Amino acid sequence: MKQLNLTIPVEVLENKAELSFDEQSLIEAAEKTCDQAYAPYSDFKVGAAVKLANGVIVTGSNQENAAYPSGLCAERVAMFYANSQYPDVPVEFIAIIAKNQQGIVDNPIAPCGACRQVLLESEIRYDQTFTILLAGKTAIHKLKSSKDLLPLSFIGDGMDKKAASQ
Ligand code: THU
Repeated sequence: MKQLNLTIPVEVLENKAELSFDEQSLIEAAEKTCDQAYAPYSDFKVGAAVKLANGVIVTGSNQENAAYPSGLCAERVAMFYANSQYPDVPVEFIAIIAKNQQGIVDNPIAPCGACRQVLLESEIRYDQTFTILLAGKTAIHKLKSSKDLLPLSFIGDGMDKKAASQ
């Protein structure tokens, strides 16, 4: 038997000042966006801010629904909006942060599995990795690629794509 030991590189920053001005601004944009969330069921408000290669910043917040699975996470709201409005422009950064009733959560937010898959698809679509900033009150996690958020991911390998397009 062979064993695969995976290492995930995550920069752990204890202070926002360790980030560039643009990265700090993106986290601030995500933080403001939390207040636009529609989260009457969880009271957990998430904000995501996406910076595109053309300099445009697109934000999104979680949108819940009485039929729970119909809601959508902040990351996917922001990513789908960015990719649909600017289909030819790759993402360069995404910042994500969350607030509960006490304010910004202590630990850096950890995106759900479905959002990780969507982030990865965008990297593959534009053949360009992007920086991910997961912010919390006590630390910020900085990752260089969504591949690091989703190791051993499904990227359509083995699918007969030609057959699907016929
Ligand atoms: N949520 C997000 O928007 N992003 C995450 O990374 C984690 C969870 C939302 C989904 C739901 O509206 C609420 O937070 C509680 O799970």
